[in-house]
Amino acid sequence: MALSQDELKKMVGYKAVDDYVTSGMVVGLGTGSTAYFAVERLGQLLKDGTLKDIVAIPTSIRTKEQAESLGIPLVTLDTHSKLDVAIDGADEVDPALNLVKGGGGALLREKMVEVCADKFIVIVDESKLCDGLGPGFPLPVEITQFCWEHTMRKVAALPSLAGCEAKLRLGSAATGSKVDGEDPAVTDNGNYIVDLFFKEPIKDPPKAAEELKNTVGVVDHGLFCGMTTSVIIAGKDGVYTKP
Ligand code: A5P
Repeated sequence: MALSQDELKKMVGYKAVDDYVTSGMVVGLGTGSTAYFAVERLGQLLKDGTLKDIVAIPTSIRTKEQAESLGIPLVTLDTHSKLDVAIDGADEVDPALNLVKGGGGALLREKMVEVCADKFIVIVDESKLCDGLGPGFPLPVEITQFCWEHTMRKVAALPSLAGCEAKLRLGSAATGSKVDGEDPAVTDNGNYIVDLFFKEPIKDPPKAAEELKNTVGVVDHGLFCGMTTSVIIAGKDGVYTKP
């Protein structure tokens, strides 16, 4: 019988912790329904004594709450600015292992933490693999609330993002709107999110990342280029790793 999506997520979440976390490490904890299982596994291995002297840095308020509930000792980047490993999910992974992240609204804290890790391990099921970023999942961009319409227009007009449609995320930052007319979603950092919808793949993700980062009013964006160490993938034929 085929495994459910949740069973696939659990397999890669557990494998990432089993293979990459050892006692004494500083570990970055991602956000989302796949990262959830990595946090769960870390809690188990600390509780049964397999792992010792771990401290972890969560990438969102909800991951912080999950980690606290499991008794995982937490620190912040302010005291630990170098991590041994960070483990997180992704919304899309291209052949160069560039990512789209932020479907769950945690992209800023995720990037701040994951860029400081010696190893950044991405955990996905096979449905997240794509030939080109963009058409399969909207690209989230975190922007200031101040004059958000102005910033949204600036972003939509960037040359490397030509042809995208920009929409302010409504409802919950983590899930988006379920009901028309809800208020704008607000991130853990008090900002708004604009989702960019593409019909064609983004031609040059690193260039797009640079143009977004250089746009005043953009706090950060969901393109994670050149950051991935390895991707652990759960597919119908089992679990495999890239590269
Ligand atoms: C959170 O903001 C995101 O970057 C998630 O890591 C990403 O969306 C993957 O989430 P799932 O594992 O829930 O698909």
